Amino acid sequence: MSDLPPLFQPLTLRGMTTRNRIAVSPMCQYSAIEGHVTDWHRDHHTTLARGGAGIVFVEATAVEARGRITHGDVGLWSDDHVVGLAEIAAIVAGYGAVPAIQIGHAGRKASSQRPWEGNLALTEADEAARGDAPWQTVAPSAIPYMDGWHTPAELSDDEITGLVDAFAAAARRAVKAGFKAVEIHGAHGYLIHTFLSPKSNRRNDRWGGDLRGRMAFPLAVAEAMRAALPDDLPLFFRTSSVDGDEGVWSIEDTVILARELKARGVDVMDCSTSGVSGAVTAARVKRQQGFQVPWAAQVRREAGMPTMAVGLILDPDYANAVIADGAADLVAMGRELLNNPFWPLQAAVTLGADPCYERWPDPYGWWLTRRARAGVEGRAPTR
Ligand SMILES: Cc1cc2nc3c(=O)[nH]c(=O)nc-3n(C[C@H](O)[C@H](O)[C@H](O)COP(=O)(O)O)c2cc1C
Repeated sequence: MSDLPPLFQPLTLRGMTTRNRIAVSPMCQYSAIEGHVTDWHRDHHTTLARGGAGIVFVEATAVEARGRITHGDVGLWSDDHVVGLAEIAAIVAGYGAVPAIQIGHAGRKASSQRPWEGNLALTEADEAARGDAPWQTVAPSAIPYMDGWHTPAELSDDEITGLVDAFAAAARRAVKAGFKAVEIHGAHGYLIHTFLSPKSNRRNDRWGGDLRGRMAFPLAVAEAMRAALPDDLPLFFRTSSVDGDEGVWSIEDTVILARELKARGVDVMDCSTSGVSGAVTAARVKRQQGFQVPWAAQVRREAGMPTMAVGLILDPDYANAVIADGAADLVAMGRELLNNPFWPLQAAVTLGADPCYERWPDPYGWWLTRRARAGVEGRAPTR
């Protein structure tokens, strides 16, 4: 154990070692074309990897075209998608971060507008305006997300097993592209999450019913993806730790799910919230720094597995305390890294892990080190 602050201690999971405990949370850019990444994605991930995070996740990447949230989502449903993502994985690794990717299916929240185009279900007006035609969504049961949303088609047993295979195929392509960690998107009201929740899964076959039945699809996906990945590559699962009114999906349910996932070779629970019963941002707890951290702590303690905490983690001292207190093994950050991609490098200065900017890339670090030594500026303005 070095004397580095906990946030800057490396973490090893299977064959992956991160340079610190900071992950760039998966963030859709809604900027892909037919599932293919664009220059925006390349530049976006370059910026974030250069900023010093330990892991850089590529956004929710769809296992089939109808599993995209919007027309602008990234996909891995064909081998043609591998080339662009391979470039991003190589760039991220080149900057010393672990290239990682989240794999998912939007289910009944698919076929929607990009956030800045309305964030609602696509209509024919979107097709007329931008060529973004709506498509038929799918889900465990034919229940729309909310009033005004598409009614999804109920998936057949064959289609469900086909989707399990599609998740595994996407995982194999992710490995081919050079990613060193993979996450299953099991949160935020998308397909996997809708299987878990009794609000969205009313099936009475082997894929529904009691908690065991509702967990069957997520667990089958985890098993298939684990089998598709090399043993040295860690598998994460993003969960909505609690969702909806009391008792619909509780933290106790999440702990049970985490134990089952762990038994199937999932390495990290990434603890987010909500999404089946309203917007992800509508969690009923007060939204303050680290509001989801207690769930990561509980899962870590009760399921006995590593966790990643996420949600309004903003301050270096706070992030360091999350790791130091044993609430989580990693912190994932989203919007604050959009605001300030150099947050990880600056936090290392603030916390004393790199008082003189020596971790910064030479073309920047050389200057900042000298400025600091001259006494002009010794600390980064992150506090
Ligand atoms: C632009 C944007 C896109 C997002 N896309 C995804 C996504 O692809 N997958 C996912 O699980 N969460 C997604 N999220 C949620 C973030 O990963 C993160 O959990 C959330 O923003 C809370 O963290 P923060 O407060 O640090 O931003 C997205 C958030 C933002 C702001």
